[in-house]
Amino acid sequence: MATILGIESTCDETAAAVVTDGRTVRSSVVASQVDLHQVYRGVVPEIASRAHIENILPVIEQALKQANIALADVDAIAAAQRPGLIGSLLIGVTAAKTLAWSLDKPLVGVDHVQAHLYSVMLDKPGQTAAADTARHRVPLPAIGLVCSGGHTALYHVRSWTDVELIGQTIDDAVGEAYDKVAAILGLPYPGGRPIDELAAEGDPQAIRFPRSTLDADSLDFSFSGLKTAVLYRVRGHKGRERDASSLSPQELRDVCAGFQQACIDVLRLKLRRAIARYGARAVVIGGGVSANRGLRAAMASFERPVFFPPMAYCTDNAAMIGGLADVLLNEGRTADLSMDAITFSAIGAR
Ligand code: KG4
Ligand code: ZN
Repeated sequence: MATILGIESTCDETAAAVVTDGRTVRSSVVASQVDLHQVYRGVVPEIASRAHIENILPVIEQALKQANIALADVDAIAAAQRPGLIGSLLIGVTAAKTLAWSLDKPLVGVDHVQAHLYSVMLDKPGQTAAADTARHRVPLPAIGLVCSGGHTALYHVRSWTDVELIGQTIDDAVGEAYDKVAAILGLPYPGGRPIDELAAEGDPQAIRFPRSTLDADSLDFSFSGLKTAVLYRVRGHKGRERDASSLSPQELRDVCAGFQQACIDVLRLKLRRAIARYGARAVVIGGGVSANRGLRAAMASFERPVFFPPMAYCTDNAAMIGGLADVLLNEGRTADLSMDAITFSAIGAR
């Protein structure tokens, strides 16, 4: 039973976590940089790397303290090694390499996208499961969907470390579409949660936005047309006639509900196509958009069992890194000090 210190710094969250046995999360600390990037309505890479440098050591210290464990008692050090912003990745990777070398502990490099898929296996915060729960018995192979601000991709998950990319967005990620639609609507950044909340009070049938499904057998996604349709609907011809302030509160809620329904319908349709092609036994959904309440409700009845991560581990976090690192460690897949930060995923996602 290994206890692993996981480190995550692929994008704009600096995070550290202590995870035992790949599932019990003893601490999970996330320093969000949302305040720094909000004004730009997107992540500015240079600002992100600087903030990681400032945050990394305090975040690691806090994670150890909250788990009530000394560095010397950790069995391995893991870091998200790919994919991400190179300047951001380097901070976490360098911290992990330094700790592993100075403590003479095994080093594990984790693929962030694979970790989002694995996050469905983590116990809820504060839960220490002695017995297996349904969560620990995800029947594999599964179809995996990673939907976040940076990724929207489908995977054939044969095991947690044997994952094949089978479809991906050809333009915007679904979380990116949420963030851009929020900007059109004058809502805060990041836009997923505010839209989710307004959508819950709107009528998803009131406005029918287009669903881009691409070719009849395609497992790829496209969300940019949907985003433009919202722009024209809200701002009129060429997106220049009026702005979101002309919407009534109910119209605003209906736009959110209609947009969200279009996203959900597309995700569900592509999952169905993937299941039909690969014959999977379950569906696992991770990444920031997996926190969406509308999506969770829509997937409550589906032709295969559907697994979501605990809410705390949908957006970027280090618990999923420490968790998947346990599986890699058990498979003997440790790294050495030549481990590099890499901008693209090992499993080929955009
Ligand atoms: O996984 P994550 O933290 O970072 C990336 O790897 O991108 O995901 C952040 C994304 C943002 O685009 C945010 O708007 C979206 O996840 N998000 C949501 C919700 N909560 C966060 N999207 C839809 N509904 C939500 N409740
Ligand atoms: Zn992510």
